[in-house]
Amino acid sequence: MTKINKLVIPVAGLGTRFLPVTKGVPKEMLPIVSKPTIMILLEEAIDAGIEEVLFVINSRKECIKTFFEMEELYEGKVDDIKEITQSIKINYVYQEKPLGSGDAILKAKDFVGNNPFAIIYGDDLIKGKSAIKELIDDYDKYQSNIIGISKVDSKDLSKYGIIEFNENNEINRIIEKPNINEAPSNYAVLGRYIFNPEIFECLEQLKMQSKNEYQLTEAMTMLMKKQKFYGCKFSGKYFDIGSKIGYLKANIEYALDNDELSIELKEYLKNLSI
Ligand code: G1P
Repeated sequence: MTKINKLVIPVAGLGTRFLPVTKGVPKEMLPIVSKPTIMILLEEAIDAGIEEVLFVINSRKECIKTFFEMEELYEGKVDDIKEITQSIKINYVYQEKPLGSGDAILKAKDFVGNNPFAIIYGDDLIKGKSAIKELIDDYDKYQSNIIGISKVDSKDLSKYGIIEFNENNEINRIIEKPNINEAPSNYAVLGRYIFNPEIFECLEQLKMQSKNEYQLTEAMTMLMKKQKFYGCKFSGKYFDIGSKIGYLKANIEYALDNDELSIELKEYLKNLSI
């Protein structure tokens, strides 16, 4: 059985939903309590047995690289970062023009080679059990492409890729950001994927969509004609931390789980006269 040990994290987006801060700080570096999101995502990957990651960055996001470099000045104070860098090999590739998710993932072709691989999106945080591990477990079962899915509110259907699937969780269609009346279900694609390497042939054939972007969803639709796709209803709680409200909610819930903060924060929230 092929072991999935490579992960791609595309982080070269502009973060327009979170301006102005994202002009100076990549959204993936914004803290969830005191950890930048990318640290939490790598911990999820390490829990799933991933050994190597490729960040798709751009030259305005060099601070992501600097973050993982070890400096004597911090010796003994950042053991959690050290643990990550000792557990996973970190690589980088550049996507200088924001040409969409399809273009970003295509940049990972050489890194991935001819094996199935995982993708985690930088603004989709899932709290709880390692979601990418749950997808990998499904891959081991089905030996086919797996997409992380969860139910979303009807009002949010137009923010996500929405799937049509059967009782065996087999997906036969994805509609990117549909109107509420076009949505085939209430289940959204939420930033976790396992693909067979044939996805790259589809990415290479992509035509540019509206907004001058190449969409990963289009490549999935192409591959769906030749290979099976299954939805994995991951068990953790999803936060869209690319949105202000999702980011605030994530911070509150991670802080409520933090021994140093939870008692005082609970007290504070209880006493807020809203
Ligand atoms: C992307 C995908 C979409 C998915 C979403 C999850 O959209 O295109 O299918 O549901 O991520 O976060 P974006 O948020 O980049 O617009």
